[in-house]
Amino acid sequence: MSTNLAIETTALVKVFGDNRAVDGVDLRVPAGTVYGLLGPNGAGKTTTVRMLATLLRPDGGEARVFGHDVRREADAVRSRVSLTGQYASVDEDLTGTENLVLLARLLGHSKPSARDRAAQLLEAFGLSRSAGKQVKAYSGGMRRRIDIAASILNTPDLLFLDEPTTGLDPRSRNQVWDIVRAVVAQGTTVLLTTQYLDEADHLASRIAVIDHGRVIAEGTKGELKASVGSGTVHLRLRDPARRPEAERVLAAALGAEVLLDADPVALTARVDGGDRGASEQAAHALAELARSGITVDNFALGQPSLDEVFLALTDRKGGAV
Ligand SMILES: Nc1ncnc2c1ncn2[C@@H]1O[C@H](COP(=O)(O)OP(=O)(O)O)[C@@H](O)[C@H]1O
Ligand SMILES: [Mg+2]
Repeated sequence: MSTNLAIETTALVKVFGDNRAVDGVDLRVPAGTVYGLLGPNGAGKTTTVRMLATLLRPDGGEARVFGHDVRREADAVRSRVSLTGQYASVDEDLTGTENLVLLARLLGHSKPSARDRAAQLLEAFGLSRSAGKQVKAYSGGMRRRIDIAASILNTPDLLFLDEPTTGLDPRSRNQVWDIVRAVVAQGTTVLLTTQYLDEADHLASRIAVIDHGRVIAEGTKGELKASVGSGTVHLRLRDPARRPEAERVLAAALGAEVLLDADPVALTARVDGGDRGASEQAAHALAELARSGITVDNFALGQPSLDEVFLALTDRKGGAV
């Protein structure tokens, strides 16, 4: 067991009836980072988090948090972790300040210290102006922020953020992202579950993609992207009537499957690079199109998005979320 791991699981299993919700998950989460657990609804993210937070007993395998076994040393684990998500302890009838002061008192802060910490967090999370309002009057984004504030009253070593931005508008999402970055800058390790590829892309240094209770890919963002090829070409043709022909020419030149976008002049294909490198291969494909007399109005060679990674890994058609 290496000591710089915040989380280490081996073949972790949780079964509900005949549903293997978590089906042999191995995770190694380095301390001091944001680690993304990315997967669609029902993938097993919350169940994994609940086992790690000692709220649910594993049916198989092992899980350690900062070296402490979640079954045999649950108290030691609990003293170092905090969880937000469906379990937030914020009381809707109390104001923002009242909630944070009350929770800080429960955590052992003196009255003045509880007030100071509450005011500090409300300020840091942009909630000062609403500090005196009942939480039930808060917007979705404000509610999510006060939940996170409540969970870091005592700076935890490990914070579980279970889909902290699901259902939020883009502006509120960005505010939550800023908070996550600030929390990590304080030295807290964050296990972030998300259904959003761009969220994992923005925040996490490593990502485990989970589907049907199994980790189907793991690595840095760069590694995950590289695993589906070194790039993607996006093309727009002048003439939609030439697209079937362009598809054949591209497929032959790149030796890859070509995807037809909803836009009738657009095509997308993966470039694996191979011996020649992605840009040379793409240039070759463009030259072949020109030789066939097909006019290309727009061309881009880019890293695959995490969306494309997810689709390639899960082999799902349609959106990943
Ligand atoms: N308490 C429970 N009892 C029975 N089935 C559950 C329970 N919690 C989760 N499940 C099932 O386990 C699977 C994984 O769920 P969950 O961990 O909540 O996924 P996610 O958080 O990735 O959406 C789903 O099929 C879900 O229906
Ligand atoms: Mg969940």
